[in-house]
Amino acid sequence: MPPKKKTTTDTLYIGIDLGTSRSAIVASTGKRQWVQSYVGWPKDFVAKKMLGDSVLFGQEALDNRLSVHLVRPLEQGVIRDGTERDEEAVRELVHHLIEMVDPGSSQEIYAAVGVPAEALRVNKLAIRDAVKEYADRLMIVSEPFAVAYGQEMLNNALFIDIGAGTVDFCIMHGTMPTEEDQRTITTAGDFIDAQLLGRLQEKYPGASFSETMVRGFKESKGFVGSARNRVKVSVPFDGVTRSLDISSEMSHVCESVIPAIAETAMDLISGYEPDFQEDVKKNVYLAGGSSLIRGMDDGIADALKEYGSFNVSVIEDPLYAGADGALALAQDMPEEYWVDM
Ligand SMILES: Nc1ncnc2c1ncn2[C@@H]1O[C@H](COP(=O)(O)OP(=O)(O)OP(=O)(O)O)[C@@H](O)[C@H]1O
Ligand SMILES: [Mg+2]
Repeated sequence: MPPKKKTTTDTLYIGIDLGTSRSAIVASTGKRQWVQSYVGWPKDFVAKKMLGDSVLFGQEALDNRLSVHLVRPLEQGVIRDGTERDEEAVRELVHHLIEMVDPGSSQEIYAAVGVPAEALRVNKLAIRDAVKEYADRLMIVSEPFAVAYGQEMLNNALFIDIGAGTVDFCIMHGTMPTEEDQRTITTAGDFIDAQLLGRLQEKYPGASFSETMVRGFKESKGFVGSARNRVKVSVPFDGVTRSLDISSEMSHVCESVIPAIAETAMDLISGYEPDFQEDVKKNVYLAGGSSLIRGMDDGIADALKEYGSFNVSVIEDPLYAGADGALALAQDMPEEYWVDM
């Protein structure tokens, strides 16, 4: 590991993970924060009187969703192409994140921003645009590479970041990974939520489900494999709350993302240097919020067992790993990787 760049008081290094559902920031001062990736603008003068002129973020924007234009600007990990409002929302979100770590007014800000593995080329301009007002120098890094770097697992290891919009893969071989070492697929947490919502609506047409509600069910009770406890949830039917057992729907939708993950993992491993493929199989690491689904690690190892014996484990602190890794890269990367803003 190269020596860390000295952090002087007038340089603030930050790592940012811009995620579909949550965005996180970690600063070289040790401050770290996250926010749900929602931005809301008051809809009209009544909303402005109630909320003030300000833009709302995260949970606060969600809580006031009836009074604000609510935008979730990062779809499948890239800035949704198109509307000015999405671009504006990303700018506001980046600003909000940086403000949350209290940069000093005279500090130079070096920002490393993580984006999904394959989106590197398309994203660069839009991200640069979003960051340029707030940072002095920018580096865009691939999210799963940032995670691997932050874990200091740089050789013969496979990282799988299972987020909301995307699953990002990166295989590490002791040097800087290239595009060939990375993959992105889009069957992640949002996909699970949509499947669960669809199945439950079909099975219980009289009940009122919402996307936020089923996401909550998944985050508290999602699982893969055999259930230790039944999954029981309370749901309104024409205003009256009933308890439903949704265990089989839950396990089905959580497991539904595994085949594509296993297939993509094998696609990367089979292209790896043959002498070291067995080592990689012993070093498979999961990150991202959806890796917290109970049994996901064993479920993936199980789906891979026809190709040999795998060790799959969830890294520590999977929700901050992207931002932590981006900060580690910001502190270590040589000058030529930085872009002046
Ligand atoms: N405890 C949990 N159990 C199951 N799923 C969870 C849990 N906590 C968060 N999630 C899910 O993880 C996803 C968010 O993870 P993460 O913050 O890594 O994604 P993201 O970075 O916003 O998305 P992406 O990387 O795709 O842009 C959401 O789908 C969320 O519902
Ligand atoms: Mg992510």
